[in-house]
Amino acid sequence: MADRSTPRYTVPSLTTQQGATVAAILQERLNSLTDLHLTLKHVHWNVVGPHFIAVHEMLDPQVDAVRAMTDAVAERIATLGTSPVGTPGALVAARTWDDYGLRRASAIEHLGALDEVYEGVITAHRKAAKDTEPLDDVTNDLLIGHLHELELFHWFVRAHLESAGGELSTAGETTEKGAARKAAAATGSAASGSSRTRTTTTAAKKK
Ligand SMILES: [Fe+2]
Repeated sequence: MADRSTPRYTVPSLTTQQGATVAAILQERLNSLTDLHLTLKHVHWNVVGPHFIAVHEMLDPQVDAVRAMTDAVAERIATLGTSPVGTPGALVAARTWDDYGLRRASAIEHLGALDEVYEGVITAHRKAAKDTEPLDDVTNDLLIGHLHELELFHWFVRAHLESAGGELSTAGETTEKGAARKAAAATGSAASGSSRTRTTTTAAKKK
């Protein structure tokens, strides 16, 4: 559970209520980014087939960068006078999305699914940046800084899904499983069987 109590103190020039509001926004971002770096590591471990090593090695720097983002977000929450919540049970209880839907699967399927994951994380991060803009410039700047990297990583994923004409194979998809299927179909790869994918999820949109 997020700490919703009003802090006893916060950063100069914000009221404690404003500090609490910004910290609550950041707690959601902490949950999302923690989920993201764990998911990226899960893909690093479960990607198979052609392009294995390219995707396997592409993901570790993303894991490290996103982990660093979680640290900065958690420490900003503490700086604002509130307790950051970083335990796995609290994350699962608070999150509004399902677990990542693929297990062992091809590189192109994971990349299709990760396109949806990044779409959801970035959309929510941009909203958080907008929501903090009138309250706290420092938090807004922190989130904008993350977006520089997150949107770059999203492009790294999407570049694998893009045709020479600039079209994304996952265009119009809103689920990880659907995006994985379309990405695989575009390359002529066989989509993974039902044993490899789990329930369709709209989780990415909510992260
Ligand atoms: Fe590794």
